[in-house]
Amino acid sequence: MPRTRFVSLGIHVPDRVVTNHDLTKWMETSDEWIQQRTGIKERHWVEGNVGASDLAFEAAKKALAKAGWEAKDVEAIVYATLSPDHNFPGDACFLQAKLGVPGIAALDIRNQCSGFIYGLSVADAWIRSGQFKRVMLVGAEVHSTGLDISTRGRDVSVIFGDGAGVALLEATEEEGMGVLSTHLHADGRYAKDLWTEAPASCMNPRLTHQMLEEGRQYPKMDGQKVFKNAIVRMPEVVREALTKNNLTTRDLKVLIPHQANLRITEMVQRSLELTDEQVFNNIQKYGNTTAASIPICLAEAIEARNVQRGDLVALAAFGAGFTWASALIRW
Ligand code: COA
Repeated sequence: MPRTRFVSLGIHVPDRVVTNHDLTKWMETSDEWIQQRTGIKERHWVEGNVGASDLAFEAAKKALAKAGWEAKDVEAIVYATLSPDHNFPGDACFLQAKLGVPGIAALDIRNQCSGFIYGLSVADAWIRSGQFKRVMLVGAEVHSTGLDISTRGRDVSVIFGDGAGVALLEATEEEGMGVLSTHLHADGRYAKDLWTEAPASCMNPRLTHQMLEEGRQYPKMDGQKVFKNAIVRMPEVVREALTKNNLTTRDLKVLIPHQANLRITEMVQRSLELTDEQVFNNIQKYGNTTAASIPICLAEAIEARNVQRGDLVALAAFGAGFTWASALIRW
């Protein structure tokens, strides 16, 4: 049975850097509060009318160039986002049009911070089954146009950044290489603890002036509940992946945790008893870019930690839904 290997990664963030200090112009907050609670120093936010698919397109071009592929070499796009350009159709279709490859499969994944790993699981299943040999896996978000950038929304809006990461995946016949396994979980009882309520098709009308005034179109979060669940679920799902493959934390070259919050990933590291060298974080520069955070972090970690062929890489995520997931890759 073929396995899935990562051929290349491409990342893209908007040019505009928004520092914690910049945020103090719009809300009561401070660089000290944000850094202490989240580790974030700055994030990139789009200017003007730029959608997630525009960021994804830039990242995709970089990934294609690195792989030496043309867009027509891709047989399917799997695209994870919670901030698609429009309500429908999915962003994979918009990206496909930008890449100029009509006809190929285009699938959107709506699993928030776990979206990239859920997407990897789908792409891996397609490749293992022989349905497709070359898949483009995307994580892309534009949060900034949908945040409550005022004191009312400060607990959420200081966390999120815009960005995109693209991985090109290909079938390999090499035994023991590539994606070893993926592990997916969710608990919908917590769906309303991190969500955007409106516009809502379960409400008629979907959006009213009153709802807009009340700020129900903005993401809301029970930060402490998210925190408490994340620090349990992320180590748990990494252990699940290692156990499934008869491996231990000592075998790991690097863990790429979803960049939710530096305090969360520090606690995950402690819980798994990993060294600083075994965990890579870059939330300081990008904030939480949700579905894009793992590919952005992975791309930088491969360079910074000099990941070589055969090294063991783990991905782990936790986020809205609640959803959580992990993947083990023999690079
Ligand atoms: N700047 C300054 N003060 C802020 C603030 C901000 N950006 N956001 C909230 N506060 C205030 C609150 O209003 C509160 O004030 P009060 O005590 O006067 O009521 C105080 O800070 C503490 O708020 P609290 O929500 O208890 O803080 P916290 O220690 O739980 O930290 C988070 C808040 C959001 C940083 C934290 O809960 C967290 O990181 N949760 C996980 C979130 C996450 O990772 N989400 C992404 C999931 S993928």
